[in-house]
Amino acid sequence: MRTVDLIEKKRDGAELSAEEIAYLIQGYVAGTIPDYQMSALTMAIYYQGMSLRETHDLTNEMVKSGEEYDLSSIPGIKVDKHSTGGVGDKVTLILMPLLASFGVPVAKMSGRGLGHTGGTLDKLEAIKGYQIERTKEEFIQQVKTIGIALIGQSEHLVKADKLLYALRDVTATVDSIPLIASSVMSKKIAAGADKILLDVTVGQGAFMKNLADAEKLSKTMVDLGRAVGRETVAVITDMSQPLGRAVGNRLEILEALDVMRGKGRADLTDFIIDLAQLLLSLAEKQVSLQLIKEHLIGGKALAKFEALVTAQGGDLTDLYRDSNAAFATKIIAKKSGYISELPAMTIGKYAMKLGAGRAVKGEELDYETGIVFDKKVGDEVAVGDTVATIFSNEKLSQKMITEFENYVIINNVCLKPKEILTVIS
Ligand code: URA
Repeated sequence: MRTVDLIEKKRDGAELSAEEIAYLIQGYVAGTIPDYQMSALTMAIYYQGMSLRETHDLTNEMVKSGEEYDLSSIPGIKVDKHSTGGVGDKVTLILMPLLASFGVPVAKMSGRGLGHTGGTLDKLEAIKGYQIERTKEEFIQQVKTIGIALIGQSEHLVKADKLLYALRDVTATVDSIPLIASSVMSKKIAAGADKILLDVTVGQGAFMKNLADAEKLSKTMVDLGRAVGRETVAVITDMSQPLGRAVGNRLEILEALDVMRGKGRADLTDFIIDLAQLLLSLAEKQVSLQLIKEHLIGGKALAKFEALVTAQGGDLTDLYRDSNAAFATKIIAKKSGYISELPAMTIGKYAMKLGAGRAVKGEELDYETGIVFDKKVGDEVAVGDTVATIFSNEKLSQKMITEFENYVIINNVCLKPKEILTVIS
């Protein structure tokens, strides 16, 4: 087989066979297929797409490129959850302890943020002492002992995705449905959970900009999961504005704690409860919304979160301190009405400039910085109300303040958007 012939075949819209896909993935991981040929191939896939059969073969080959986790020694149905990326997304931090509080074993690996999107690992590292690395044995043992472990993705998991994602990131080929689906599902399958909930974001802050594409991606991933015996459900969720109140690592930890103490925004609290019911039902536990709410705001989820932080070396005293960013700059409403736009990606990029996110891999973060919103889309504002507070370690210039003010659009009327748009199972 010659790589150039396979690039040409895909470029011209033909289907690659399972053997051809295996040759390409194995060759890329082994280093015999160079980046420039793989870039051409991913661009051909970006334009020509892949059939479901090709996407299955690609996913399976990617799973085989690294280590696979076997969680069968942990009793019970193991569930996992993955978001396709967002701004202010602290769902994992709240949802997973909540599930664990119902006795569902949570063995979860998370990733870092890149670009405008945040990553759960970075948020956890905003807690002093929290260790994200655990050997496979320690990881499994912790789940057996306290019911939950939240660690960094193993270096050895889906090696092909590590290489491919880095390549896609710099060749404008991230937002391709077969490439996203195989990237996400290969990691979920290799991580070993029995059941998977996918949060497929749509809107300005997401890779999928419209509902039709989000549905197509969801259906593809649900199908990939089923095909290997892992029941998978996808929820399509709004990412036109940031999720919840806070954007920024430490600020998001504080918001997660607020939700788990009954002081979170109602929309975020309800969103978590809905997701929890779906995941509990995947774990074959039928639990009422009322009981889930009691666990969430009545201290049971928080107790699990604290147990998790302690087990992973985190400092509970540090967990409860406020952000110590040097400056807190208020953004004030200049007219009355309803907030109608808070563009998620634009705000995510702004938070990145404050140090809360990385433009390139490996960049150091400033965990304390970010933005906290007092008002979200659909909320009423009067002139002089605080819409948001920007936490920074450098004094903001007037230009930076005006830039943010211009992101906040106020109109005469605007309805609150729904968090969950569709469920695909
Ligand atoms: N998240 C992933 O893990 N992979 C993608 O390709 C996009 C989002």
